[in-house]
Amino acid sequence: METQELLSFDYGGSLPVENVQELASKNQTKIPPRYVRPEAELDPISVLESLELPVINMTKLLDDRHPLHHDELAKLHLTCKDWGFFQLINHGVPEEVIENIKIDTEEFFNMPLEKKNDYAQKPNSLEGYGHAFVLSEEQKLDWGDMFYLQALPVSMRNMRSWPNQPISFRENLDKYSRELQKVALFLLKFISRNLGLNSETLTSNFEDGRQGIRINFYPPCVQANKVMGLTPHSDATGLTLLLQVNDVQGLQIKKNGKWILVKPVPDAFIVNIGDVIEIMSNGEYKSVEHRAVVNPEKQRLSIAAFHGTHTKGIIGPLPDLVKKSKANYKSISTEDYLRFVFRKKLDGKSHVHCLKE
Ligand code: OGA
Ligand code: NI
Repeated sequence: METQELLSFDYGGSLPVENVQELASKNQTKIPPRYVRPEAELDPISVLESLELPVINMTKLLDDRHPLHHDELAKLHLTCKDWGFFQLINHGVPEEVIENIKIDTEEFFNMPLEKKNDYAQKPNSLEGYGHAFVLSEEQKLDWGDMFYLQALPVSMRNMRSWPNQPISFRENLDKYSRELQKVALFLLKFISRNLGLNSETLTSNFEDGRQGIRINFYPPCVQANKVMGLTPHSDATGLTLLLQVNDVQGLQIKKNGKWILVKPVPDAFIVNIGDVIEIMSNGEYKSVEHRAVVNPEKQRLSIAAFHGTHTKGIIGPLPDLVKKSKANYKSISTEDYLRFVFRKKLDGKSHVHCLKE
């Protein structure tokens, strides 16, 4: 499929729903029933109030003469297997690039609704300011607004959806997007090696790959323990790098049937294995369910960068990994995969389950 076709390609959109930031600003004592999530209260929360995930130091991975290089590679492997989530430090993304995008995203969400709506999602498009994965009028809603953009490859950018208020937004997002793609590709190289493959076996699927950026905005909620900021899900793409924009916790990951609140390490990215790596690794690594909860008093912002395969790629267990054993997942083209993923509402790990052999 050529770029032009992909731009107009109908991934299905999301039904328009009320702006949550506006709703929250009304300070009603009771929230509308569509936001009440009984499961938010019933789910067991881990006894561990909050936990720092395993920390991976990128400097040690990159320098193969570092005395702890092999230890760090082994740690990465175990972390991918046991956790599917880690925090990445010394990732090499300039502080300025991170600070600038943080400032611009906060400024964007502080603008009046009419201004933000200059970039509102269009029907049948996922890009722009709005909500994702609302597919029916009955569906329960998340307590959050978001901004989604296709950031890479550059040829797939739809600049009309890219905010130019604040004025530096486009330039800063462009820098951020390219830096994160570099980090993702380095990590995929090490992940490839850890799976017993050549460094390039995995990365060749992700070079020139798709990168989507979602900025999540979770307003405070008077009934915070009754709502969900982001429905439990695993990320459908390969590798996600999440940045906490402000100092409010909210990400929870599911481990051994319990939800654990993640305590971010300053300046680290929270990295997680997505469904595509689970499938390509033939299940050696697993994507992990996660969700976002809401704070009663403070707004929370995060930026997720999702890294996927290039559009001509096939998503399936890597041939080198199924030589000796059987394929545990079906193989499908990237375009069929995207169509399938974007037409479904978020629902735990349902995408991967559908592709299990
Ligand atoms: C996501 C996501 C978590 C967060 O955008 O896919 O999981 O903490 N975000 O905002
Ligand atoms: Ni996610």
